[in-house]
Order: sequence, then structure tokens, then C-alpha cells
Amino acid sequence: MPDPLSHRFCTAPLMDWSDRHCRYMWRLLSRHALLYTEMVTTGALIHGDRERHLQFDTAELPTALQLGGSDPRELAECARMGEQWGYSEINLNCGCPSDRVQSGRFGACLMAEPELVAEGLAAMRGAVSIPVTVKHRIGIDDMEDYAGLTRFVEAQAQAGIGTFIVHARKAWLDGLSPKQNREIPPLKYDMVYQLKRDYPQLEIVLNGGINSIDECREHLRQLDGVMLGRAPYQMPNLLAQVDSELFGGEPGPTPAEVVQRMLPYIERQMGRGARLNHITRHMLGLFQGVPGARRFRRHLSENAHKPGAGPEVLQRALALVQEAA
Ligand SMILES: Cc1cc2nc3c(=O)[nH]c(=O)nc-3n(C[C@H](O)[C@H](O)[C@H](O)COP(=O)(O)O)c2cc1C
Repeated sequence: MPDPLSHRFCTAPLMDWSDRHCRYMWRLLSRHALLYTEMVTTGALIHGDRERHLQFDTAELPTALQLGGSDPRELAECARMGEQWGYSEINLNCGCPSDRVQSGRFGACLMAEPELVAEGLAAMRGAVSIPVTVKHRIGIDDMEDYAGLTRFVEAQAQAGIGTFIVHARKAWLDGLSPKQNREIPPLKYDMVYQLKRDYPQLEIVLNGGINSIDECREHLRQLDGVMLGRAPYQMPNLLAQVDSELFGGEPGPTPAEVVQRMLPYIERQMGRGARLNHITRHMLGLFQGVPGARRFRRHLSENAHKPGAGPEVLQRALALVQEAA
């Protein structure tokens, strides 16, 4: 096992997916995972419903707030808000390729403007005392391969950034949808390994296409951390192995125990106006690979959105899995 104190395991920022309810469940499965929020734009925090975007349950900690933006003053202001609300780290998104994001000048298109990013990150660092990190791609469009990546990384390192989360594929900003941009550009783990060899003093975290704890262990032999998005979302139970397999801790709870522990949370959240399916939609894959998984998923999908649906719908779904077993 890699030295448990010297590496990080992170869940990825996932728009519409890694919301506070999802993160609450993920935290039940692993104490050691560092969780990331969905991206929140500086505009949404400065002009929008700040509380809706920032509110979370302290049980989720440690959790990093991911920001999207490029204006240094606004980034600093939003980083400060994140620290005041109790987040553990502030991360800047330089990897997201959607059109909407390009027009606002944030996300992956910022990889073409390393100096502007460095100015933003320096302003964020100056505003907070918690860590400031950056998530980016290995390149965009026709940026020449490794040289473009190192130019970007060096500029941020000079601004004092020590942690880089690298999604190991390029973003092609013209012609591919965000979804295609997570699947079509080839994964180039070797470039990220090379980055770590060339900049051993920087903390390099690998993201993209990692699907199992064994793969995490393999990458952690050469890198400082791994970040997983789609795999833990689709198979949350994967997180139950993180503490024991990567950190020398206790195994996480069983899926049935997770359901039991979610019930009081659901009661509390529904008491404050949350809808059952806003929480249970993140639980559909919990029993993935177990007999009865499909009945669990189907019962929730068909019933959790109905008016008046409450925790008993989840209890019934659990009973269906237990009958199948
Ligand atoms: C539904 C969805 C939403 C995403 N939203 C964000 C986001 O808000 N910020 C971000 O940096 N990346 C976002 N990503 C990209 C992921 O963080 C991650 O980089 C990508 O999925 C590759 O990792 P994976 O193969 O482990 O899923 C999103 C990905 C998905 C599937």
C-alpha cells in the first residue's frame, strides 16, 4: 500500500451530480476521500442565490469548493466566501469544455491563457488561508502537446500553486460536446507521469477513466493522488473500499447500512423542503452488482418523485433487495 499519509483520493466535481446530498452519502462510505462540489461560477455566487450554492452539511468535510471564473478580483471574493462558509480547499476549474463556459471565459479555454489563470490563482491565494488548487486538462485543441502543458503548469507554480489535478486528456473546444470531450480525446496517463517526474516538488493528482481501487493503487505508485468521477457516481459502493484499501483504515459500511444511515438525513432534509428524489437519485447505483439491484433502482425511479413520497419509499426499496438476497 502507498504511504497512507502522503497521497489523496478525491471524488470529482460533477455538475448536477456531486451536490450536497450526493456528497453526504459519499462521506458515509469513506472518511478519507476529499470531496469536490459541482462547479459554481463566480457570477452565481456574487449575483445569485449564494446560500443555495454554498450550503452544505459539516459532516461532508473535508470538501473542496470548485469555482469557475477568470476575473481575479471576483475569484478572490468567491474564494473568501468559500473559506468563510467552511470549505476545506478552493479549486479553480480549467478543464470544463462546454460552450456556455467558453463564452464566459472560464473552464478549459483558460489553458490558452496561463498568465490570466496565474493572476486569478494568486489573487485567490492572497484572499484565503486554505489550500488553492487547479483542475485542468493536458491541453486544448492544437496546443502543442507536452510543452503547452508545462507552460501552463509552470505559470501556476510560479503563482504559488502546489497541487494540480490533471484530467489526462485534451479538450477539443470546437466540435465536441462536453460528453464527447470526456470520452473521445485519448487518455494519456504517460504525460501526467512525466509531469510528476519533471516537477517532483509539485503535488500531481491524476483524473480521467479510473474505474477501480486496483487502478488507483497502480497510479499512486507514481503520483500523489487520484480523482474519480463517473465510477463512484455509478457505483458508490466503490468508495466503501477506499479507507481500508488505500489508507489502512476500516472498511466502509455496506449498501444496506448506507441506506439506514441516509434515513435520518432524508427526514431532516425533507423537513427543510428537500424532495425525496433529489436525494435518492444519487443512490440508484448503490447496490450495483448485488442481487436485487435492479428492483432497488426501479422502485426508487418509479416512486421517489411522487407527491408525498417519503423515507418509506427508500425503506421499501431496501426490503426488495433483501428479499432478493
Ligand atoms: C455529469 C458530469 C459533470 C461534470 N461537471 C464538472 C464540473 O462541474 N467541474 C469539473 O471540473 N469537471 C466536471 N466534470 C468532469 C469530471 O470532473 C472529470 O474530470 C471527468 O468526468 C473525468 O473523470 P472520470 O473519468 O473519473 O469521470 C463533469 C463530468 C460529468 C460526467
